[in-house]
Amino acid sequence: MFDLVRKLTIFFIMIAIPIILHASERKFNLGKIATKTEIAGWDIDVRPDGMGAPIGSGNAIDGEEVYAEQCASCHGDFGEGLDRWPELVGGEDSLDTYDPVKTTGSYWPYASTMYDYIYRAMPFGVAQSLTHDETYRVVAYLLYMNEIIEEDFVLNDKNIGKIKMPNVEGFLLPDPRPDIANLNGKPCMKNCVSPTKIIGKARDIDVTPEDEKS
Ligand code: HEC
Repeated sequence: MFDLVRKLTIFFIMIAIPIILHASERKFNLGKIATKTEIAGWDIDVRPDGMGAPIGSGNAIDGEEVYAEQCASCHGDFGEGLDRWPELVGGEDSLDTYDPVKTTGSYWPYASTMYDYIYRAMPFGVAQSLTHDETYRVVAYLLYMNEIIEEDFVLNDKNIGKIKMPNVEGFLLPDPRPDIANLNGKPCMKNCVSPTKIIGKARDIDVTPEDEKS
């Protein structure tokens, strides 16, 4: 009898309680609870201040090799962009002209976003194949090519949030779009239409195909 009680107690603690708790987390009994490893695979964002940057480091000298092997075939040896692939280097002082060249150097406000984007999405077609150190190296190389850091500067998880990018002041804050937030920092819920002023035309920056009729 004592043995049975003991077995039942053990059963309850080991099997039944976890099942009951588990079931209550999955109200409709759909899907499965993500494991820590699965969550870590998704949790790769690196924020402007560097929060979330994985431990690692690299400099531009080592980054040149990563870049030549994995990036130059599309983005060009010097980040000039082959054919219609995006340019990654140059474009300074072009943002307020009719032909803005938006690159990681001229446009992007944070080095940490370069890390986030490159690790998340590049090389195009084989995203997330770079190691963390390779990503630091290639970001350092792009920062060096854009004359933001020296070639031997060791970029790492501690300092990536502190790199001062040339265009960091070039964004309007708070975001004035009515569906994001109004200027008091609160979302706009009614009468949100704000006057529109046309300040440029797609034709001027040559992104509209020629059409004889217009
Ligand atoms: C097969 C071609 C290809 C390769 C190789 C490649 N990229 Fe790209 N890259 C692209 C394309 C296409 C885009 C634009 C993607 C988009 O807008 O969705 C892009 C966008 C980017 C951007 C954003 C550009 C901008 O200003 O919007 C960066 C930064 C970048 N790539 C870095 C890299 C790095 C670093 C590597 C090497 C590790 C790399 N890419 C390899 C094709 C490539």
